Amino acid sequence: MRHLLSAGDLTRDEAVLVLDTARELAQVGDRSVKKLPTLRGRTVVNLFYEDSTRTRTSFELAAKRLSADVINFSAKGSSVSKGESLKDTALTLQAMGADGVVIRHSASGAAHRLANWVDGSVLNAGDGTHEHPTQALLDAYTMRERMGRLDGLRVAVVGDVRHSRVARSNVLLLNTLGAQVTLVAPPTLVPVTAGSWPCEVAYDLDAVLPKTDVVMMLRVQAERMKDAYFPTAREYSRRYGLDKERFALLGDDAIVMHPGPMVRGMEISAEVADSPRATVTEQVANGVSVRMAVLYLLLGGSEPAIGN
Ligand code: CP
Repeated sequence: MRHLLSAGDLTRDEAVLVLDTARELAQVGDRSVKKLPTLRGRTVVNLFYEDSTRTRTSFELAAKRLSADVINFSAKGSSVSKGESLKDTALTLQAMGADGVVIRHSASGAAHRLANWVDGSVLNAGDGTHEHPTQALLDAYTMRERMGRLDGLRVAVVGDVRHSRVARSNVLLLNTLGAQVTLVAPPTLVPVTAGSWPCEVAYDLDAVLPKTDVVMMLRVQAERMKDAYFPTAREYSRRYGLDKERFALLGDDAIVMHPGPMVRGMEISAEVADSPRATVTEQVANGVSVRMAVLYLLLGGSEPAIGN
């Protein structure tokens, strides 16, 4: 078991181990414990073919807090622009001694392909519209910290589900951890395969919100909207945006999540995004601990290993 490619590969025990390990590592980086020597001598390559702010920087920070050497590779400005393939790029980086490769790519399945080519661990940091497992882990961690449990938690995942790797990974992981997930989206932005996912599908956000403990808003992914019918931004926002009035439909203890980047005024109003019940920046902070945990468990040689 070397890789983390899909949230669906994790058993309940493995997922809980990641969350518990992240909790133990959360204090690393503060004044008393700046770094751990755990991954000294190991090399982590961040191989990013798509833009990223949160995932890339938090993987870098996580690896450095565990004393790993980090190589940040961006397709922009590399020999990819001269036609070098993903396989040759990966083999080149491996020849330099990569123990772990964190990959983000626009092609669904790119992380799986890479896992067949390199000797080290592959960590999927988002592949096309397919999966983003560490995002789901940091989301689950944030829910558990805020709500005190995951079992039986009612989670609504709202918006452009069709193009969202975050949605799929969350559905798979939260189901494993005992939460009940409802996808809420315009019919044209529900994936055709969603009927086989372990969750409910609904179309009326106002009806779902009063029965929801956690509402996770998704970014509308304009860059992937090639063949999907999209209502106007105004119409989308009117029916699926989380504004102050809709926010009032939630119970007093319910929280609002967003993986970022947010399109304020489209899927979420600024007022809601900045509310104390929104966890957006907590998710980012928790992402560092969760990625430290995943790197530690995959590259640190601890048992039990996670992933497949
Ligand atoms: N949530 C997320 O994946 O953000 P980035 O695209 O900034 O990494």
